Amino acid sequence: MEPYRIKVVEPLPQTTRQQRAEALERVSYNLFDLRADEVTIDLLSDSGTGAISAAQLSAGMNGDESYAGSRSFYRFHETVSELTGYPHILPVHQGRAAERILFSTLLTPGSTVLSNTHFDTTRANVQLAGCQARDLPCPEAKDLDSPHPFKGDIDLKALEQALSAADASPVAAVVMTITNNGGGGQPVSMENLRRTAELCRRHGVPMILDAARFAENAWLVTRHEPGYQDRTPRQVAEEAFRLADGCVMSAKKDGIVHIGGFIGLTDPELAQKCERLLIATEGFATYGGLAGRDLDMMAQGLVEVTDPLYLAERADIAANLAQRVRAAGVDILEPPGMHALYLNAGRLLPHIPPHQYPGHALACQLYLRGGIRSAELGSLYLGEEDEHGNPVKSAPYELVRLALPRRVYTRSHYDHVAQTLADIAKDPSSVNGYRIVEQSPILRHFSIKLEPV
Ligand code: F0G
Repeated sequence: MEPYRIKVVEPLPQTTRQQRAEALERVSYNLFDLRADEVTIDLLSDSGTGAISAAQLSAGMNGDESYAGSRSFYRFHETVSELTGYPHILPVHQGRAAERILFSTLLTPGSTVLSNTHFDTTRANVQLAGCQARDLPCPEAKDLDSPHPFKGDIDLKALEQALSAADASPVAAVVMTITNNGGGGQPVSMENLRRTAELCRRHGVPMILDAARFAENAWLVTRHEPGYQDRTPRQVAEEAFRLADGCVMSAKKDGIVHIGGFIGLTDPELAQKCERLLIATEGFATYGGLAGRDLDMMAQGLVEVTDPLYLAERADIAANLAQRVRAAGVDILEPPGMHALYLNAGRLLPHIPPHQYPGHALACQLYLRGGIRSAELGSLYLGEEDEHGNPVKSAPYELVRLALPRRVYTRSHYDHVAQTLADIAKDPSSVNGYRIVEQSPILRHFSIKLEPV
């Protein structure tokens, strides 16, 4: 059961099917353009959407809003240093600010960054720093149905080759994303992190954690990795941070706050350079674009998130929903992670070709029938067409992500999600595809306009 009870509630928006059909037409079938109060269950993202605890709220009330050197900063610094072991901690307003500041300081243009899989904004910030972002996911990650427990791992052979290749552009950093959001929310094993750290050390390349979901990664390590069964998630997390030379963190996920993040570093010179850019572009070094209360709430969230009871319940909610979805005949990217389920829309809707966007078609059905908002991760997001709309590039898989906000929805809300999917799966051939009517050249999924085929 949930290891918390509810003290503050918010009504769920209720709409009729007719209203949802009209809303879809009004926004040209782009779910990002819906008003949130037209959505009953919002599974668009687990980022900044969690419920804060009474302890976080009261920590926030105790925030110190001094411009410089606030008590909140010192409390935050102490908590994050204890967790990570890094002496240099720079607060930022969210993960992508951490990426921009660290990468534009650490990376030399023309070099390469390697990763198990870069998250979109991580990739964008590597590219904005004039560098190439290369993903080296482990071979098991390619098989959506494989229940291998650590499909978030980096391919160590490919990593060693890339680090040793004399003719390639120099490798400036290795980024390990825990858990691997771009790779289906799959965890990375401690063995893989340790061996990556060894390779990085041997080649003199810094290893940076993208630690947005470090606690969920740690939980899955205690469940599935030999030698870690008797360790607490907190101990595993502490060990993971200490294997790396630093981290970028979006605290909107495993900090359980609505806004916040940080950079953690071991290298004092690098930290000093980052601090200069932080002051010029985010805010003074002791607040980094946040209020004192945000720092206090983040510090408290970072302690709560490794509670084994909280993590066990979160894993159980994802596993239960996965079980119900499979039973309804909808395949998911296996095994279910913790922050999201990734539905295999390509397999459910084989009559819809990639460039009529089966993932998007499923996401629209989830909204139309159940008021549920999700995110397509398929050829709408990753594909390309020529100027006549003919397919040029398709995504490797047509997926839909159901992200699970922290401490927000109860089991009966997820029952509604499973039931809606089961209804769709009863007659998948009745689901229609879409065609693009208007799009922008970059990040098209945010602003695209479509119509039913
Ligand atoms: N790294 C990872 C692994 C992420 O999942 C995200 C955000 C970021 C970095 C960027 O952090 O949003 O605080 O700037 N992921 C969100 C998502 C948006 O829905 O998966 P941010």
